[in-house]
Amino acid sequence: MKGLVLYSSRTGRTRKLARGLYEKLKDWDVDIQDTKDKPNIEAYDTIFLGFWAYKATIDPSVEKILDQLKGKDVYVFGTLAYYDDSDHAYRVRTNAIQAVEDHGARCIGSFITMGGLDQARVEAKKQAKRPLKHPLTKASLMRYDLTKDYPTDVDIAYLAEKVNLKLKIMEESGGDL
Ligand SMILES: Cc1cc2nc3c(=O)[nH]c(=O)nc-3n(C[C@H](O)[C@H](O)[C@H](O)COP(=O)(O)O)c2cc1C
Repeated sequence: MKGLVLYSSRTGRTRKLARGLYEKLKDWDVDIQDTKDKPNIEAYDTIFLGFWAYKATIDPSVEKILDQLKGKDVYVFGTLAYYDDSDHAYRVRTNAIQAVEDHGARCIGSFITMGGLDQARVEAKKQAKRPLKHPLTKASLMRYDLTKDYPTDVDIAYLAEKVNLKLKIMEESGGDL
């Protein structure tokens, strides 16, 4: 297995998760790159693909590299600005799996967690003149505040544990899961 943690991140949440995962994959032959760095994906058979939720699916930067995933094993992980145990998160996760499978990759796992919304966007929402699709409520403001430092070490540890488990099984089984 030659793996690449490949991630996209606007405001650092997915980067935090990606770097945390990478740190916990020290036993494996794994590199890490940002999609912005135009990585050579060809050299890897397994991609740990980090995205941020955009319109209920993967973000545009990850969308752009999907064509290069054909024939690869892909573990998708993402952050979103809503509850990770919600229907919305389930839809985002399902759409991400579908996107990689539609491009000829085998999805070997998926994970989504809360990343919070960046403060600039919260402020823009507060100042908005037009009615918002998702109006600010006491609950949403609290959620943005309480999740501003997410993902947490617990999220990172959980993701890394699942990924390590699968890599071990795949190594022993010749790639089976
Ligand atoms: C243009 C745009 C669209 C977004 N769409 C969604 C969405 O559909 N669902 C959601 O939960 N979060 C959405 N978000 C929030 C981000 O996915 C979330 O804040 C994420 O954790 C940001 O990750 P990053 O810090 O790695 O950029 C959107 C953010 C932006 C800027």
